[in-house]
Amino acid sequence: MKKEIGETRIVFVFDRFVVKIARIRPVKAVKKILSFGTEYLSVGSSVFLEYLIGGLIGNIFEQVSYLSLHKILRSRLSPTCFCFFGFINIAKKVSEIPRSYNLDQAILRSHIYSFIKYYKIPGKLFDTHTFVKLENYGFYKNKLVLLDYGNPWMYELFHKFPNEMKLFFQVLEEILKKRRKR
Ligand SMILES: Nc1ncnc2c1ncn2[C@@H]1O[C@H](COP(=O)(O)OP(=O)(O)O)[C@@H](O)[C@H]1O
Ligand SMILES: [Mg+2]
Repeated sequence: MKKEIGETRIVFVFDRFVVKIARIRPVKAVKKILSFGTEYLSVGSSVFLEYLIGGLIGNIFEQVSYLSLHKILRSRLSPTCFCFFGFINIAKKVSEIPRSYNLDQAILRSHIYSFIKYYKIPGKLFDTHTFVKLENYGFYKNKLVLLDYGNPWMYELFHKFPNEMKLFFQVLEEILKKRRKR
């Protein structure tokens, strides 16, 4: 068993499945909102909420997204099997992207930006912060999948742009596989 600390969840990785536990950090949340002060209250409150309930929202939206995307995109998401009120999620284990793929963030970033521009995807929906990190992807049944997809914007993105997102993953998978051969 391995323990991974994500931004909003602590994940226990077993041989066949993972357990994702929401991180609830009230002290950090209060410290953050105080550090932003009254001038930046709206930014401060969203950071406050992220530390407090980001993990719960992440777990709930992963389950909801996975259940509601029946056909096109489901195979591009790591399967979420069970959610206990957002506190705990059980999901299938996917394999990490091997280092031999040798893909740096600049390449991933440029793929993301050209994709958003070409398909005119609203920036608000495309959570670049998550999509740009290789640790948020894995392989499941030999297909590239996203393993961190729990937020309301991504839910909207997947529902509004399923075909475009299907292409996004296909092209990214191609890029990754080509780089492995080098
Ligand atoms: N289904 C999974 N299979 C294998 N490892 C996983 C899986 N889900 C998460 N992980 C590991 O746990 C880390 C944190 O999970 P993630 O879903 O990204 O949480 P957070 O939203 O907190 O960033 C990931 O970067 C990955 O290393
Ligand atoms: Mg993550």
